[in-house]
Amino acid sequence: MRATAKAHPNIALVKYWGKRDERLILPHQSSLSVTLGPLAVTTMVEFTTERGADEVRINGRTAAGAERERVVALLDVVRREAKKRLGRARMVSAGDFPAAAGLASSAAAFAALAVAARTAAGFARDTRAESILARRGSGSACRSVQGGFVRWNRGRRADGKDSFGEQVFGERHWPELRLLVGMVSREEKEVKSRDGMRATVETSPYYPAWAKDAEAEARRIVPFIKRRDLEAVGTIAEQNAWRMHATAFAAMPPLCYLKPQTLSVIEACRELRRRGTGAWFTLDAGPNPVLLTTAGDEATVARVLEQHGAAEVVSCRPGGDAELVPAP
Ligand code: DP6
Repeated sequence: MRATAKAHPNIALVKYWGKRDERLILPHQSSLSVTLGPLAVTTMVEFTTERGADEVRINGRTAAGAERERVVALLDVVRREAKKRLGRARMVSAGDFPAAAGLASSAAAFAALAVAARTAAGFARDTRAESILARRGSGSACRSVQGGFVRWNRGRRADGKDSFGEQVFGERHWPELRLLVGMVSREEKEVKSRDGMRATVETSPYYPAWAKDAEAEARRIVPFIKRRDLEAVGTIAEQNAWRMHATAFAAMPPLCYLKPQTLSVIEACRELRRRGTGAWFTLDAGPNPVLLTTAGDEATVARVLEQHGAAEVVSCRPGGDAELVPAP
């Protein structure tokens, strides 16, 4: 009744932004991401037969409040679905993210938790069921159960059984691809993704156009990834990031995740292209851009990020599936 799993974070090239069901975490539109190696979160789950409160430890400290509640809620789903009676659990999770990576670890954390918890409860590995479970913790986590390029199909059902991440191409499909995270601001973002997307759905007049466009883009990008066409993939990723942020700017009150340094990097990225270096940006709900490039241009792009205020640059490449590992 104990298992440990490891999962990588992911960066969306076509973003998920907005839920049609807040409780089950069902999106209004499909999205598509790359799983990022080598960053990873490792999570151990052990179910006991005792009654009582779960013990939740994250990065060396006991979790409390909303952070703890999200983990307990996911463990409760597993306890309800398990064939045997499961009591209180012990969960220990740790990420190897550099503190400055500027990437949310929640996708990797909930993917690792879903795989570990289901395995500890006696279920055989099943990436679809794991993705659906991970989604209940954090939407983007359903795209971290598998490696490589993963599309989260929005699904149509009210129970969410058709809303999960599915691998489109494996981690070895495009080995030269690099994703450079540039940490330009260490400030905690003022509005979390969860609250920002809710406000956008409720108040942005552009939201319906966003959802329709993103749904189409999550399909249109696939043949370009297949051809490993960086220019076409980068162009779609940039445009989709602008459109996500545009729909957020139009919320009431307006949501702006960009900082002056973010724009400076975006400008530098255009300048790189004018000079013949292939680099395109994407941006989640925060100020730190992620630049798409290839291994040959990695050093040039990293240098430019540093020149434009990135305190740290973390270089990632397509990562693998979430997997079971020996206990730490
Ligand atoms: C901008 O998956 O963190 O990174 O489902 O509320 O937990 P919840 O949100 P989360 O949102 C991710 C938003 C994004 C885009 C993306 O990863 O697709």
